[in-house]
Amino acid sequence: MLTSILAIAASYLLGSVSFSILIARYIKGIDIRQHGSGNAGATNTLRVLGKGPGILVFALDILKGIAAVWIGRFAAPDVDWLPAVCGLAVIAGHNWPIYFRFKGGKGIATAIGVMVSLAFLPALYAGLIAILVIVITRYVSLGSLVFALLTPLSILLLIGLGPIFWISFVLCVFAFIRHRTNLVKLFKGTENKLGSKKE
Ligand code: G3P
Repeated sequence: MLTSILAIAASYLLGSVSFSILIARYIKGIDIRQHGSGNAGATNTLRVLGKGPGILVFALDILKGIAAVWIGRFAAPDVDWLPAVCGLAVIAGHNWPIYFRFKGGKGIATAIGVMVSLAFLPALYAGLIAILVIVITRYVSLGSLVFALLTPLSILLLIGLGPIFWISFVLCVFAFIRHRTNLVKLFKGTENKLGSKKE
């Protein structure tokens, strides 16, 4: 049990390493949370700092999610729910980072890493549809929410009920909570489109 608790704590601490905050601070000496949408994530890094840093943050955030699942797998191979709970912990860390006054990102890139590691095909299908939504609408937030919604749905259809479904369900709830302001803007038609410099 102690090993499981340590693995969950390690995943949360790993999630709390906010690459967008660190990279923005390193490259431009700014707090990314005071620029663009104010979100500490890959989309806002792309918006504020450009393609290179945006892609770098996206990749590192995905890797963070993959790493947490593997922490769970290695820490206690006989505890089948641990990788999923470590996945939840790394996203909680990303969204509410202990090192940055609990003001972090929206957890989508990290959730991609987690879900691809836990349920590859359902995450892939959800991801492909989300990409299509982004390409058509140019709303990253809408694509993120589609991914968050379709992942539990495709897990339910392809795998069934179980720890992975419930974790993806909680991740979906997290995603909607974190995208509250995006949802309001989407309804008002004032949401940022990919490529626009608007705040
Ligand atoms: O994953 C974050 C994205 O869905 C929205 O980011 O900066 O446009 O609020 P942002």
